[in-house]
Amino acid sequence: MLINNKSYRTIWFDKKKEEVKIIDQTKLPFYLEIVSLNNLDDVINAINLMQVRGAPLIGATAAYGVYLAYRNLKDKNKIIDQVNKIKNTRPTAINLFWAVDSMLSVIKDNLSFSEIEKSLLDQANKICEDDINRCKKIGEFGFKIIESLHNKKGKVNILTHCNAGWLATIDWGTATAPIYFAKKNNLNVHVWVDETRPRNQGASLTSYELNNENIANTIIADNTAGILMQRGEIDICIVGADRVIVSGDVINKIGTFLKAIAAKEFNIPFYVAIPMNTIDWKTKNFKDVEIEERNSNELRNIKGLDEKNNLKTVDVYPKGSKAYNPAFDITPKKFVTKLITNKGIINSNINEILNLKNE
Ligand code: MRU
Repeated sequence: MLINNKSYRTIWFDKKKEEVKIIDQTKLPFYLEIVSLNNLDDVINAINLMQVRGAPLIGATAAYGVYLAYRNLKDKNKIIDQVNKIKNTRPTAINLFWAVDSMLSVIKDNLSFSEIEKSLLDQANKICEDDINRCKKIGEFGFKIIESLHNKKGKVNILTHCNAGWLATIDWGTATAPIYFAKKNNLNVHVWVDETRPRNQGASLTSYELNNENIANTIIADNTAGILMQRGEIDICIVGADRVIVSGDVINKIGTFLKAIAAKEFNIPFYVAIPMNTIDWKTKNFKDVEIEERNSNELRNIKGLDEKNNLKTVDVYPKGSKAYNPAFDITPKKFVTKLITNKGIINSNINEILNLKNE
């Protein structure tokens, strides 16, 4: 999608320099900086520091991480140790584990070092291409939902949480893909963007990407959606997910659950847009999912531009106050109207999710 009218992806392999490039999302929306990843440590830092974030993009970055680790190691017997380091970065987004396993599947005993190196790069590139295609499919299916609301009302107000936009994927996004399709089909859409404390992915990233695509949007504090729902100013909620367990519960950015409860109270449809590799096929009980707990400084500190346009971080809490920062919450399936997947729109329950696997 576009930044300053130029088309970008969030991650790509630079063939000339033989390195992986990413957009450093910790600098957005203030500065557009492209960073190079050349080795495993670069990849681990990029994921930990959240220069890349969002489940599908974490997965794609991890995939290139396996390739870079192998390229630098030149020893397939040591790759498992390296891979475990990648797996230990962020525990909740299942796409990370899916992508690493998908990379390992191309390391075959009968292949030479250079054949494996090539297969790994091909596989990482393929993971990116496949992600784009999945997101486009989500866009096509989700567009129909927005279109039918538009047919009734002539305008659709959409609430979204965190950033499940193209910046969280390779291109198009999950929750935003239907919105981009709606815009391209000239529907009148407006997006309420949850700021999404503590890291403000909504305000810093979702609003930024929607602005760049000329989509009307308004940032709201995380506490504001309730009154908007009461006033009839939200027609539909669309969020992404870091993991949907096979029984149908949804794990997504902290705050998603509260929005889903409020939406149910007001009969507002609550959709979760996911590619197939966000499904955790093994886990039935959400208590078995590790919810990442991040440093409480993410709450305590706020980042912005000072008067000289330098990026600055300031402390906004009383010194000595404790803060607690779980990064995700669980939305039980009863609050989810439907899942918008790349294979179609389904109810979020074990039967329909398992059916999807067999298609
Ligand atoms: O902590 P983040 O920024 O990686 O969390 C991202 C989210 O929670 C997104 O909503 C989710 O990954 C869906 S991305 C398509």
